[in-house]
Amino acid sequence: MSEPLNLYELEAAAKVKLTQMAWDYYASGADDERCVRRNVEAYEAIRLHYRVLVDVARRELGTTVLGEKLSMPIAVAPTAFHRLAHPDGELASVRGAGDAGTLFILSTLSNTAVEQVVAAASGPVWFQLYVYRDRGATQALVQRVEAAGCRALVLTVDAPLLGRRERDVRNRFGLPPGLGVENLHAAGYAPVPSAGGESGLAAYFADLLDPGLTWDVLPWLRSITKLPIIVKGIVRADDAVRAIAGGAAGVVVSNHGGRQLDASPATIDVLPRIADAVAGRAEILLDGGVRRGADVIKAIALGARAVLVGRPVLWGLASGGREGVAGALGMLRRELDLAMALCGCADVSAITRDLVVP
Ligand code: FNR
Ligand code: LAC
Repeated sequence: MSEPLNLYELEAAAKVKLTQMAWDYYASGADDERCVRRNVEAYEAIRLHYRVLVDVARRELGTTVLGEKLSMPIAVAPTAFHRLAHPDGELASVRGAGDAGTLFILSTLSNTAVEQVVAAASGPVWFQLYVYRDRGATQALVQRVEAAGCRALVLTVDAPLLGRRERDVRNRFGLPPGLGVENLHAAGYAPVPSAGGESGLAAYFADLLDPGLTWDVLPWLRSITKLPIIVKGIVRADDAVRAIAGGAAGVVVSNHGGRQLDASPATIDVLPRIADAVAGRAEILLDGGVRRGADVIKAIALGARAVLVGRPVLWGLASGGREGVAGALGMLRRELDLAMALCGCADVSAITRDLVVP
């Protein structure tokens, strides 16, 4: 096959490298997988009303997210189990993100310990947190990631239970021997064995993670860590406002890439309402279905500070390790650069809402 020209071709290249179980786990969504498609398709309905005769001879893609300097408004979403894609797993991913000059968010469910990931990083690393029923183990985890040098916590709130991914049920998803949840060995929560008749990951969530979480989790987290907290998994303006009232420094407008509630709205469709309600009091990130540089412009125009990409990074990792991850991010970067030029935007601050709603 010739070199992939875009993320869709990279996806096809990754598919042939992965086991059926890994491919299905990465690709799948909940139930009918409508939301996976909806996230992508919603971008098709949005047009960019480009400006002309703006000097775009030099473009600047750099920005900041919660004070972190990034080379572009595109960062890496937290995704579990990178060693299903490549033997170097999260180490390759964090290096690829660093090569692309951007932020890496490490999942609680990583196959590599947080200290090793931070040691391999050349850019900022944030930690995505799942709260275990065992609050002692959760607190120990938070203290550990803070000590390791992670610079923010991304609290995921859209997964009180795991969405039902039928492909994982069919495959009886579990981690192969030698792979585990590396940050949870001390608590005894490292193994994710396949479960009879269901997804082993769904069983892991049901047994170990806390489905009783409420907004009280924010003051609790703030009492045990100094790290800024970003709340991930919001699709409603009122929830975004509650997160900020609870002390969150930012929110991620996300429906978990369509893997949780299949009936969720597309993230880009709910972004404007959330941006209006937040009104600049916190930073807004968005993920789900970002596949082209123009999608990034649409998200920023509608109120996001930056976007995150999940599956595209896994496709890069599967097809080429560290270089593959940097390559996937590089594709989006080149597309964003060209789309900015064609929109008459010499820098990210010129990406304003009138591009979408003139
Ligand atoms: C995820 N996502 C996710 N989110 C999270 O908070 N913690 C996690 O461990 C994971 N794990 C995970 C695994 C895989 C295979 C996928 C595809 C996704 C959700 C992720 O952070 C993000 O919200 C979506 O991936 C964004 O959608 P796209 O870019 O994949 O369309
Ligand atoms: C997933 C979990 C791990 O989406 O967040 O598979």
